[in-house]
Parts: sequence; structure tokens; C-alpha cells
Amino acid sequence: MNNDEIMALEDNFQLKTYRKLPIAVVKGKGSYVWDANGRKYIDFYGGHAVVLVGHCNPRVVKAINEQAKKLVFYSNIVFNDVRAQASELIIKVSPKGLSKVFFCNSGSEANEAALKIARKFTGKDEVISMEGSFHGRTVGALSSTGIEKYRSQIPASPNSVFAKFGDIESLRSLITGRTAAVIMEPIQGMAGIVMADEKYYLDVRELCTQNGIVLIFDEVQSCFGRTGKMFAANHWNITPDIMTCAKGMAGGFPMGAAVISDEIAKTISVGEQGSTFGGGPLACACAKATIETVIDENLMENSTSIGKYIKKRAARMKQIREVRGIGLLLGLKFESDCSGMLPLLLEKGIIAGVADVDKSVLRLMPPLTIGKADVDKLFTAISDVVGDSK
Ligand SMILES: Cc1ncc(COP(=O)(O)O)c(C=O)c1O
Repeated sequence: MNNDEIMALEDNFQLKTYRKLPIAVVKGKGSYVWDANGRKYIDFYGGHAVVLVGHCNPRVVKAINEQAKKLVFYSNIVFNDVRAQASELIIKVSPKGLSKVFFCNSGSEANEAALKIARKFTGKDEVISMEGSFHGRTVGALSSTGIEKYRSQIPASPNSVFAKFGDIESLRSLITGRTAAVIMEPIQGMAGIVMADEKYYLDVRELCTQNGIVLIFDEVQSCFGRTGKMFAANHWNITPDIMTCAKGMAGGFPMGAAVISDEIAKTISVGEQGSTFGGGPLACACAKATIETVIDENLMENSTSIGKYIKKRAARMKQIREVRGIGLLLGLKFESDCSGMLPLLLEKGIIAGVADVDKSVLRLMPPLTIGKADVDKLFTAISDVVGDSK
């Protein structure tokens, strides 16, 4: 089937909830994907910030093959060797003080679990989230999502209030005797790769500790090396009380996790959380292979150095006002809405994204394996499209 045939078939039968790029991707390797007509693209979108260690990474593919031959699935009513090893590895690389992992299948589920755990732990019901945040599509995660156009799809949740991200006084003013949790993406993705200054994160940590509030870091996008450190929290030496992960953690295989502090973990007993598929052997084998690859192949170092190279290249372009983010979770800020660039970049063999809230931000979240030559091709394509180079 060619691109047109696949697009027509899919459009006929899949519920239309996505605005899609007009290609059918059928193959991937490293930083590249190919469409059904045989055209190659450099994937600066990283398959939606998922493809952490490159498309069809050989170690992940090997792990899938070997595990699939041994045991595809058994739930958490039995113990399993790869689940045990993946759990150990995740806790080993997590910020100090986080001691237990709960496995699920997506970022929304991980946030849902975190919010539920925080409410139960504190016995309180209110959650403070951040304006511009995105935490998922399930009712709890959506109620805490700070992007109005998504949240307003369901009746307002009385239990969620929204602080201005980066403004500690705004957060302080919303704390009440009912506050159970503060949830934040340490680097806001959909908002346009928005970061706060270091002091803000430290102050948030302190404020939550002082007030007995559970601090949840949604690291669904930033987890396992994307920002050049294992987690965004590591940039400020912070340990949240709960950290949620998904996206790239299993190299493209669906997986989510809530990583939980010792203090909270001790209060959770059998039957309080569950997920049939969470922590399945195949997913755990993929997570283990992915995290080991990030470490063994120095991909955090590559994320840092390529991220810096992108910033250097962007600084040479007049039309790029600012580069936001860190490592390979980056946003190139243009003067105005840059969504019109996406199809033009696609024609030049580049897949990128645009931020949902601030549409002047081109989102880049390529595999951490990407090299300078592909970055050069990105900037040649951008220059051609916007007609600018200094
Ligand atoms: C920061 C953040 N949290 C949560 C989610 C929801 O994850 P999922 O789509 O896996 O449910 C996303 C998805 O884009 C995200 O970016």
C-alpha cells in the first residue's frame, strides 16, 4: 500500500481525534523513518518524544525477541525475573529517596495513580497544578491539566486549582488546609518547552515539605535521559515525593510508571493500586534494555552536547528568538505561529512538532542518538523554509 491508500483506509475507520501529517510511516531506524512511498525523514519529533534510543534500537529489538520467545505476559499476581530487574534498575537510577515503582501503561495512568496516592496519603482532596500544564486525557489527569481547551471538554473539577508556573507566590496563595498535592511538569512541554529558574524548583520543594503536600513531578516527557540527566529533577538535585514516567521509558513499547518515596510507599497496601498489563514482562524487558542503552551508550552526554549544538546553530538565525529547554527537549521560538512550517519541513524530509499553547515554538525531541549532521540538515531546511540565515 502507498501513502494515499493507507491514509484513506485509516481515515475511513479510525476515530478522527488527531491532526496528522500527510504521510504513512512504515519503517524506522535510528533517527530516521520511511514512509510507504519509500521517502526518508529525520525524526526530530521522536515519534512524540517516545523514541529515546532511536527507532528499532537493536538492543530493544533483541530484548523484545528474546522475551517474546520466553514469556510475553503474566500479570502481577506472580513474580517475574525481568520485572524484578527492571524495578531494581529504575529505583537505582531514580532520585535518592524514591524507593518503589508502580507500573502502568501510559503517562495518564501514571499521573492518575500519583494523584490518587497523594489524596489517600494526605487524606485531602485538592490538587494544585500549573497553568499551561498537560498531564493526560483520563478524568483525574485531565482535571489537573492547565490547558483550558482540553480541560473544558469535561465539567470543571472542583478539586483542581492552577498556579502560574514559575511564580512561587502564586503557588503559595493557593495552598489551603485541603491541599493534597502539587503536580507539575518540571519542563512544560505542550506549553512551549517552558522552564522556571532553579530557585523556583527549590522553593516549591520546600513549600510542599513545610505544608505536608505531596510534590508530584510529571516526568512523562523528561524521564530517562531526555534532558541530559536521568531525570529533570536531577538538574536541581530535587527529590519529588512521586515522579511519573512514560513516553520513552521502554523505547517505544507502551509503559508508564509512578516512582514513589519510601515514606509514601510504606503506607500503601495490597489492593490499593493495580493494572492488569502494568509491569508485563515484554514491557519490562524493553524498559531494561532502553535504560541500559541510555547509560552504556552515553546518551545523556549526547543529549547535552547535541542540545548545545542546536542552541549554537539556532543563535545564528535571526528569526529564532530564543531556544527553550535543555538536552534534547527543546523549543525554537519564532516570532509568530510556526505551524505552517511543519508541512514545508516535511517536504524537506524533516519531522518536527509545534507547541500546543505557544504556537510560535517549534518542538524538537529527537532520539538521543541523533548526530550533528542531522542537526545541520534541520537548520538548512529551516533556513530554506523561513528564508533566513545570519
Ligand atoms: C507531560 C505529560 N504528561 C502526561 C502525558 C500523558 O501521557 P499518555 O499520552 O501516555 O497518557 C503526556 C502526553 O503527551 C505528557 O506530555
